[in-house]
Amino acid sequence: MIKKLIGAVALMLTCTATFAAEGGYPLDKAPYRVNDMASLQNGAKLFVNYCLNCHSASSMRYNKLKDIGLTDQQIKESLLFTGEKVGDMMNIAMTAKDAKKWFGTTPPDLSVIARAKSVNAGPSGSDYIYTYLRTFYRDTSRATGWNNLVFPAVGMPHALWERQGPRELTTVAMHEVEGKEGAPKTWERVTTVYDAQGFSTVKAEPVANYHGHATFDAKFKAANPAQVATYDNDVADLTAFMSWMAEPVQTFRVKLGVGVMLFLLLFFLVMWRLNASYWKHVR
Ligand code: HEC
Repeated sequence: MIKKLIGAVALMLTCTATFAAEGGYPLDKAPYRVNDMASLQNGAKLFVNYCLNCHSASSMRYNKLKDIGLTDQQIKESLLFTGEKVGDMMNIAMTAKDAKKWFGTTPPDLSVIARAKSVNAGPSGSDYIYTYLRTFYRDTSRATGWNNLVFPAVGMPHALWERQGPRELTTVAMHEVEGKEGAPKTWERVTTVYDAQGFSTVKAEPVANYHGHATFDAKFKAANPAQVATYDNDVADLTAFMSWMAEPVQTFRVKLGVGVMLFLLLFFLVMWRLNASYWKHVR
């Protein structure tokens, strides 16, 4: 009986721990800041200022931000711009039809995007958002002038580009090329450099005796690395806010879970001793 129980618990633990990533570009680990009020507040400010023009967060009301330590006054003064009231939901003026015309696609509602992305991008979806917002690069071949490493040919322009500052991107791809007229396949290394304006130069060179598999590497070079460090910190805050927004009770849920486990442990000890003392006289 006990053995079966332990087996079931072990199975449960391994099932939750193994999530496969989406494949493609590897995701960076988002710093965990969902229990940090200052981070959440900074994230909320960035979100309202930079994302809400295109995206809505329609299951979120402004006054819910009191839960991350903001007062009605602070919400009014620094987060409401166009005559919204604190009880209003985070909707936007842009219609889905206009958005489709301008971006070729409708920006998704962001209330629960962190949870939506978690299906195939890590336990919380935060890693996806954290990486996505840090891998935009200029690309003149795109209508918006922007492209993205985790979401190639994305319809969204880099909303935070001024905060991140200019960067150059170099990608190196190893790939197989079909041999001409029945000749065996060969390998080629393609190096592409996108300068800070998004103009690209491509260099392809054959690689003899390569026995590995296809690879893709990307490296950014920032004009101002210190600015990028500040930016990464801001994006971590923004990601934490979006993760909190997707599931505001998550920190409480963890606390509750720990409490329940402790209670069960204690309860088990009591029952075990009680059981032993009941049967003592019977045997
Ligand atoms: C200029 C309009 C615009 C702004 C500003 C904007 N977005 Fe977007 N966003 C879009 C569009 C359009 C898409 C849909 C892209 C697509 O499907 O190709 C999108 C998609 C997304 C996605 C989903 C990506 C995916 O993999 O499906 C996330 C997450 C996102 N935006 C986050 C943000 C955040 C965070 C901000 C604020 C920093 C922001 N966006 C600002 C237009 C915008």
